[in-house]
Amino acid sequence: MKFTYYGHSCFEIEVAGKRILFDPFISGNEQAKEIDINSIQPDYVLISHGHGDHIADAVQILKSSGAFAISTYEVVMWLNKQGCENGRPMNHGGQFKTDFGTVKLVNAVHSSDLPDGSYGGNPVGFVINTEEGNFYYAGDTALTMDMKLIPLWSKLDFSILPIGDNFTMGLDDAVIAADFVDCDKIIGVHFDTFGFIKINHEEAVSKFAAAKKELILPKIGQSIEL
Ligand code: NI
Ligand code: MN
Repeated sequence: MKFTYYGHSCFEIEVAGKRILFDPFISGNEQAKEIDINSIQPDYVLISHGHGDHIADAVQILKSSGAFAISTYEVVMWLNKQGCENGRPMNHGGQFKTDFGTVKLVNAVHSSDLPDGSYGGNPVGFVINTEEGNFYYAGDTALTMDMKLIPLWSKLDFSILPIGDNFTMGLDDAVIAADFVDCDKIIGVHFDTFGFIKINHEEAVSKFAAAKKELILPKIGQSIEL
C-alpha cells in the first residue's frame, strides 16, 4: 500500500490498484500550497464528517475525478445536493464491500455539521480490510472505549490517528488509542495546521517510542510505502 499525505487529515492510500482519498482539505490549508488539487484523481473519496477541514475540496475533486464517495448518510445526501451523485450513504456499524476491500464505519467521538450549516449526522472512523493489509483511520475523535472493538474486526497493519489535541485526542490519549486498537504503526494527522494544534514532533515520536510503538509524522506531499 502507498500512503501519500496532503496535509491536515487529507491523505490518499493506493491499494488493489485503486486510489482512495480521505478527508479532502487542501486549497484552504496554507501549508499545503504546493499540492496541485487537479493532480489528485482518486477512485474513491472517504469522508469522516462534515467539518470544512475534512470536506472543503470534496465537491471539486469528486466532480473532476468522477470518484465514488463513501461517508455517512447525511454527508452523502449533502454531496448529492451539490451535484455529486456517485456515492454510498452509510452509518455506524455498517460494512460495504468494494473492489479494493471492505469499509466499515465505526464510532468517533466528535461533532459534525456541513459547510452551509446543515446537519452532518454523527462523525465516523473507517476500518478497511484489504488483501494487501488492513488499516484504521479514526477521523476526528477523542479516545473512546469503542476503539477496543476494532481488533475484533481487523488485525491492523497500521492506523491513522489524530494527535493534535484541542479538537481531537492529543498525544497521550493517542498512545492509549494505539493500544486499544492493537496497532504498533501509527501515522499521525490533524496536527500543526492551526495554532491550536501545534505539536512538538520530537516529544510526539518519543511518547510513542516509550510505548514501543512507531509514530510516523508525514511531510506534506510525501509518499510512504506501507
Ligand atoms: Ni472536525
Ligand atoms: Mn478536524
